[in-house]
Amino acid sequence: MPETTMYITRRECFNAAHKLYNPSWSDKKNLEVFGACSNPNWHGHNYILYVTVKGKINKKTGFVVDFKKLNKIIKTNIFDIVDHKNLNLDVPFMKDILPSTENVAKAFWMQLSPHIEALGGKLYSLRLQESENNYIEYYGEK
Ligand code: NI
Repeated sequence: MPETTMYITRRECFNAAHKLYNPSWSDKKNLEVFGACSNPNWHGHNYILYVTVKGKINKKTGFVVDFKKLNKIIKTNIFDIVDHKNLNLDVPFMKDILPSTENVAKAFWMQLSPHIEALGGKLYSLRLQESENNYIEYYGEK
């Protein structure tokens, strides 16, 4: 029987503060571009992260990768570092990166991808939801 490729997804919720601000612009221009996200005294988002892993079903376990192990990777490398934190100030892997949802997703990809490969899967996509109606998706660089 041919090997079967599947995609498994773990959902993780966290909340974090941030500010979108380009220091080379005036406050007025920052407000025009970033809107409420440029508020000088920070604000928070309730983020929802979906981590999708691609892999073959292991014949012995029936799993693509073990969800328990995947959850632990996400907890250690993302959740414990960002939850209830300030993305501009508290998160070492976001240092000097403007914490737009796009940039956060890209940084998360770099945090997770090697660990997921070590589990025997491949990180297929990250979806990061910043509000009820807005989310971004990242599939890595092909
Ligand atoms: Ni914001």
